Amino acid sequence: MTDKNFSGQVAIITGAGQGIGFEIARQLAFNGVSVILNDIDQDLAAEAAAAIEKQNGICFAMAGDASDVDFIQHLVDEAVAKFGKLTIAIANAGITTFGKFLDYRPESLQKIMNLNLYGSFFLTQKAALQMKKQGDGGSILLMSSVTGHQAHENLTAYGMTKAGLNMLAKSLVIELSPFNVNINTIAPGATLTERTLMDVEYLETWSRITPMGKPATVEDIANAALFFVSPASRHITGQSLVIDGGWTAMSPSPY
Ligand SMILES: NC(=O)c1ccc[n+]([C@@H]2O[C@H](COP(=O)([O-])OP(=O)(O)OC[C@H]3O[C@@H](n4cnc5c(N)ncnc54)[C@H](O)[C@@H]3O)[C@@H](O)[C@H]2O)c1
Repeated sequence: MTDKNFSGQVAIITGAGQGIGFEIARQLAFNGVSVILNDIDQDLAAEAAAAIEKQNGICFAMAGDASDVDFIQHLVDEAVAKFGKLTIAIANAGITTFGKFLDYRPESLQKIMNLNLYGSFFLTQKAALQMKKQGDGGSILLMSSVTGHQAHENLTAYGMTKAGLNMLAKSLVIELSPFNVNINTIAPGATLTERTLMDVEYLETWSRITPMGKPATVEDIANAALFFVSPASRHITGQSLVIDGGWTAMSPSPY
């Protein structure tokens, strides 16, 4: 994509020590955005930021729990202290837990709700308050999933959190549009990451059942993310874009 002008932009992205978040952070920095890169794993955060800086990007690691509201406020404050403002917030951190609804444990639900919903909700709130204060707009992107759009076996709780993010973005067009802040979600399908590739059959299985013949790469997802936080998408808000090689249009089961 060549129509992105990110000059002077400052971004926070959570859960970006590896996987999709890392690639979004890398591409943002490559396009001139000053990035605050968060991960709960201190080593991963430091290594990821160092790798981006080695490629001449501006990237500052902040290790911490993206579901902790005090830490989220600290992320926003640090962005402003280091780079003078915050113009982009990406709530990428999310966990995936599989399990049957009839067996699902309260502590598992609490854990997934805490990061996927609570953490994303409060990053959105703290970032939006800062953007409102600055008076110059901004972009917020939430990381949904195909499972937030349609049913997927053993992912009821996860899918519920991701569907909640789609509704959060839609609802916030009312309160955030007056401040020129747009908010959208992207909804990846099967994507090749360090985590998903731990399943040795992942690539073969999803290549077989995805109409485009393969799962997404992290670059496929980052391309869409950058569009949604770029000036090119200023008039798009409250939307969710599915990036799945056609899988949800057809929905074949992997089993
Ligand atoms: N990979 C996929 O196939 C896929 C598909 C659809 C949606 N998603 C969503 O995309 C996002 C990124 O997925 P991924 O597979 O790249 O991620 P991942 O599972 O590889 O995790 C990315 C990072 O998040 C960090 N993390 C975990 N808990 C955290 C916390 N509380 N605070 C801060 N960081 C934390 C981890 O240390 C890890 O480095 C998630 O929200 C996920 O639900 C992924």
